[in-house]
Amino acid sequence: LAQSTPFKIGLILPMTGQQATTGRQIEAAARLYMAQNGDTVNGRKIELILKDDTSLPDTTRRLAQELVVNDKVDVLAGFGITPSALATAPIATQSKTPEVVMAAATSSITEASPYIVRTSFTLPQVSVALADWAPKNGIKKVVSLVSDYGPGIDAEKFFKDRLTFNGGQVTESLRVPLRNPDFAPFLQKVRDLKPDALFVFVPSGAGAAVMKQFLERGMDKAGIKLIATGDVTDDDQLNDMGDGALGVVTSHHYSAAHPSAANKKFVEAFSKANKGLRPNFMAVGGYDGMRVIYEALKKTGGKGGGDALLAAMKGQIFESPRGPVFIDAQTRDIVQNVYLRKVEKKDGQLYNVEFDVIKDVKDPGKTK
Ligand code: DHB
Repeated sequence: LAQSTPFKIGLILPMTGQQATTGRQIEAAARLYMAQNGDTVNGRKIELILKDDTSLPDTTRRLAQELVVNDKVDVLAGFGITPSALATAPIATQSKTPEVVMAAATSSITEASPYIVRTSFTLPQVSVALADWAPKNGIKKVVSLVSDYGPGIDAEKFFKDRLTFNGGQVTESLRVPLRNPDFAPFLQKVRDLKPDALFVFVPSGAGAAVMKQFLERGMDKAGIKLIATGDVTDDDQLNDMGDGALGVVTSHHYSAAHPSAANKKFVEAFSKANKGLRPNFMAVGGYDGMRVIYEALKKTGGKGGGDALLAAMKGQIFESPRGPVFIDAQTRDIVQNVYLRKVEKKDGQLYNVEFDVIKDVKDPGKTK
């Protein structure tokens, strides 16, 4: 009987509002995965049910509840921001439904439910590499500027602790609101403090505004370098940031310019299916999340079941467009390469060009 009913994936994403590009990227990637791999697994039809939570966690929780109770989804997936992923955790636990987090990146998310599996990244995972790079490259005094919620606080802490360990110093830690941020007063303060560099984390979609104001205020000309997690030089926006972005060094797990055959194929297919849109790190989290779900369902012979799916998600190892990845069976979090990149021009377009790699990085934020 189970075999003849469709296998339902409830995909909850911000399709409107401040985080809408995250939703657009992940939806496109999920649909690309299905187009490339078919909409059946072991003869069982895969049904994607897309819901827009506008990135309000109360809405996410209500939609997750409805998807589980009314639609009887087999998997919950998506989750554009940390509060949305956390709001769903108790529902995943109670209903024994795997929750595949494709975007949100606060370290502690995977500890909120034993049914959470993550295919995005964590901020500690990517921030530490930049704090190792900076002091070897003349950057000793840093001011940090982060969005004032989970991932920003992770980025701030792990960057600072590692930089301090390496003999550098974070002289001031600034936090800007997540909703409708105004970066101007913070950047003015940074200008007055005159650090060697400003370290920034803002979520996907907010990077272009930071870059614009950084350049408008002449921070670069005042000798202050911009360094950031790759969320800031987001492939969804980077090419429109202008030549002022050239030379900005970031650390992250995915660049559309990652030089592998698998990535070239992914970028071409994604772009072709979406009017030339360049995939960003959110798209890769969505694409790999679908793969983890498909492979888990295959392993259960098409039967599914929350606990069986979860067991089949743990330990998966495969080549992603980002490079080799592994779902750690203990933490249910993703282990992956972290790349140092510099914004450069390639064929007239701005890209994050990788120049160094730290292999197989586990989330350093896990307590156990
Ligand atoms: C989160 C959201 C983002 O858009 C991002 O780039 C990183 C983290 C989050 O809310 O967890």
